[in-house]
Amino acid sequence: MLEQLESHYQQAQQELETISDSEALHRWEIRYLGRKGLITEMLRSTGRLPQEERASFGKRANEIKNQLTEAYRQREALIQQQALARDLEEGQIDSTLPGRARTVGGLHPSTQTLRLYAHIWAEMGFQVYRSRDVETDDYNFQLLNFPPHHPAREMQDTFYTDRPDVILRTHTSPGQIHAMQELGENGTKPIRVILPGMCYRHEQITARSEIQFHQVEGLAVGRNIRMTDLKGTIAEFAKRMYSPEARVRFRASYFPFTEPSMEVDVECFLCDGAGCRVCKYTGWLEIAGAGMVHPNVLRNGGYDPTVWSGFAFGMGSERATMLKHGINDIRYFWGNDLRFLEQF
Ligand code: DAH
Repeated sequence: MLEQLESHYQQAQQELETISDSEALHRWEIRYLGRKGLITEMLRSTGRLPQEERASFGKRANEIKNQLTEAYRQREALIQQQALARDLEEGQIDSTLPGRARTVGGLHPSTQTLRLYAHIWAEMGFQVYRSRDVETDDYNFQLLNFPPHHPAREMQDTFYTDRPDVILRTHTSPGQIHAMQELGENGTKPIRVILPGMCYRHEQITARSEIQFHQVEGLAVGRNIRMTDLKGTIAEFAKRMYSPEARVRFRASYFPFTEPSMEVDVECFLCDGAGCRVCKYTGWLEIAGAGMVHPNVLRNGGYDPTVWSGFAFGMGSERATMLKHGINDIRYFWGNDLRFLEQF
């Protein structure tokens, strides 16, 4: 049997030398090393040998099997190399062709702006706090100091649902109450968060207004927080977001949940304050609403307003993106038109 084995081995080696294509190689593998191959069969029949011959025969058969397997691999590599060389020779592979670009998804321009906001605020010590899109009238209005028939409710045309009291948030401000209630530990812990998210308003869709848009709300609650803290913080943000020279101004305004309230303008970065079409020749662009958290709101968040104070702000995100990229119609944002989205 040993002789037979050796002769199979020799034969296999000789045949392999002559093989130059992968089909023939495959047939060779089946013939010698396959499940019913000659070498495999020999190995399998070791058990039929007399006891004293088994070990040495088995050892040799295994050796041969390993050697042939290795020779097979080498031949396979050689054949592949030759095939490649042939293809190159015959010009089937044009190595001067440019590579094919892979298409990868990009971040939506709004997401990019939101991430930039989050990055800047994180550097200034504000953590992101996520709050829900679906709200109750209580959180969206009542707890923010909008009484039931308060005229300020009309500033925000609300999407109602067929469930009484369940609405889509019209601004990110309800997140202030959630943040205070969940992070404040019954009005004992200071807070410094931003709350980014989608807001919804039942409005006419035009080039300037959409029914959905992002806001980034900010909230700081602590002891001895004063209006100078708010102004300094916003001014610093504007420098980091727009330009190190960016100037801001604060105009008195009204929101039910802040007192005093203000609107924040940044000097128009397109004309450096000289006046242009974008800033409507005022030299200023509105970037945020802000104010000191109203005592009622602090109370609704679980804080004692005689001990704690805070500031809040809310800024839009699509408008900032539009200014940055010169986009003149907000409807592009949710139009899902790749010709628009691919530009960012
Ligand atoms: N919630 C306001 C809006 O949607 C924006 C706003 C104004 C948020 C003043 C604030 C704030 O936190 O202090 O128009």
